[in-house]
Amino acid sequence: MKLRRLTSEDMEQVIAIQQSITRQPVSPNWRKMLAQHVSDPCQAGLVAEIDDKVIGFILGEIKVGGFGSELTGWLEMVGVSPEHMGAGVGRALAQGLFEYFTKQGVTEVLTAVRWDSGDMLAFFKNLGFDRSPFINLRLVV
Ligand SMILES: CC(C)(COP(=O)(O)OP(=O)(O)OC[C@H]1O[C@@H](n2cnc3c(N)ncnc32)[C@H](O)[C@@H]1OP(=O)(O)O)[C@@H](O)C(=O)NCCC(=O)NCCS
Repeated sequence: MKLRRLTSEDMEQVIAIQQSITRQPVSPNWRKMLAQHVSDPCQAGLVAEIDDKVIGFILGEIKVGGFGSELTGWLEMVGVSPEHMGAGVGRALAQGLFEYFTKQGVTEVLTAVRWDSGDMLAFFKNLGFDRSPFINLRLVV
């Protein structure tokens, strides 16, 4: 397995993985968000591939200021194709993203997970994440 930066040529394969996880088509906004992870230098995207086939992806962003640190790394989304889950791909992608964050001077990584998503919580806890001092607030407008 090889890790490398996400490129625009990977977009359709990443979209296919996301659709196989959620079992619904990605929205035009999702597609746009993915394209921004290729073009915007503050956003990070990595893919894992085997034999030139993309089998997983991870998306992140570095935010300046806020949340108590000068720079914070955000793990925004991670997905592994169902036939490759449970084989260390997600962990390798997360470690690749953390290495990238570290090189950019980030010392703290944040993420958010649905409170009832036990699988994702178990995965993040396994990577070493714990509860942050912050809580998410929401306003429906
Ligand atoms: C969560 C996900 C990214 C993990 O990637 P993965 O390649 O399957 O996970 P890994 O094999 O790297 O596992 C890393 C560690 O997390 C743990 N873990 C991974 N998935 C887990 C799960 N579903 N439940 C419990 N623990 C889990 C593993 O046990 C492993 O620990 P270990 O190294 O001590 O054995 C991947 O399974 C995935 O894409 N799942 C679908 C996500 C989803 O449902 N998204 C919907 C909202 S977008």
